[in-house]
Amino acid sequence: IVGVKLGILGLGTVGTGTVQLLQDSAGRHPLLQEIEIYRVGVRSLDKPRGVELSTEVLTTDLESIVNDPAVDIVVEVMGGLEPARSLILKALSNGKHVVTANKAAIARFGAEIFTTANQAGVYVMLEAAVGGGIPVIQPLKQSLSVNRIHTVTGIVNGTTNYILTRMQTEGSNFNDVLADAQRLGYAEADPTADVDGLDAADKIAILASLGFGGRINLQDVYTEGIRQVSKTDIAYAEKLGFVIKLLAIAKRDTPSSPLSVRVHPTLVPQAHPLASINGVYNAILVEGEPIGQVMFFGPGAGAGATASAVTSDILNLIAVLKTNTAVANPLLACGHQEYCEIAP
Ligand code: NDP
Ligand code: HSE
Repeated sequence: IVGVKLGILGLGTVGTGTVQLLQDSAGRHPLLQEIEIYRVGVRSLDKPRGVELSTEVLTTDLESIVNDPAVDIVVEVMGGLEPARSLILKALSNGKHVVTANKAAIARFGAEIFTTANQAGVYVMLEAAVGGGIPVIQPLKQSLSVNRIHTVTGIVNGTTNYILTRMQTEGSNFNDVLADAQRLGYAEADPTADVDGLDAADKIAILASLGFGGRINLQDVYTEGIRQVSKTDIAYAEKLGFVIKLLAIAKRDTPSSPLSVRVHPTLVPQAHPLASINGVYNAILVEGEPIGQVMFFGPGAGAGATASAVTSDILNLIAVLKTNTAVANPLLACGHQEYCEIAP
């Protein structure tokens, strides 16, 4: 495969960050030279964009991108459920590989998406869907695959961690900080997904599927956000030696016990490794046998961090396609088959 044409769906925070990174980092990786930003789909052609793209690249006809035989990889960074789901499925059916940051779509339609990918013999990459810039999907699926995982505990939503941190350290007002998180590009288009814990639920469902196998039904994920957390709660927690964090937890104590998956504000002892994860940073603590504890830490949202994950997926995909090493790469080789097929 020489000369890879990207069809990018969306040019918001993540899309712009990805285009910028692809344009600015040309010398950093040999495969970058082979990438062409061929089409970019948006809602409005009149919006000022923070990147330079020729006018023929931009289109509002996203269907035309996923149906274009010249497009090799579709990068779905538009978000939302529809038309994102239909466009991903169409791209896969048309033989295109897909890189997506869309945890909401993967958590709900993962089975359909991965089955379609398997049938079409193409790949779906989703490193950016959990933990922003943190490499966690690939390590969990590949490097830790030989372990029996007991627990995945994460701070997986940057917006709420940013809000809680500023309420704690500055006594800031919830709504003011949420507005800052939106301005900084951390929040979802509808920030209730962040604030009410739904985004964290999507992410822990994906991590639990990868870590424990099986499909997680979102209705089975107890989900509570941070709306009820007050400055007074935070101050009392601090006096008692705790911080309040929105934790996403997937836990199976023994191989025969049921898997518990939940999201809720939690009193975390100040000495716990997750207590010091502040601002937009995320961390995912994985506990298993024989590895013990492993923690993944880094920026959980924002243009540059997420673009790093999206771009690494694009490069990994191209590397695999060039060398035909899919079999050596379980994440790709199985196409998340077990994610689709093993009953919970
Ligand atoms: P934005 O809202 O900033 O950008 C969305 C982009 O998609 C916009 O360019 C918009 O076009 C375009 N778009 C949306 N719907 C349509 C449609 N129906 N037709 C045509 N174009 C459309 O979102 P983000 O970049 O923040 O997020 C994108 C995805 O990445 C989401 O799935 C999100 O969950 C995920 N993500 C976001 C992170 C972040 O830090 N922001 C981090 C990790 C994942 P227009 O510009 O013309 O309005
Ligand atoms: N809105 C999400 C967050 C973006 O704040 O974590 C990253 O997935």
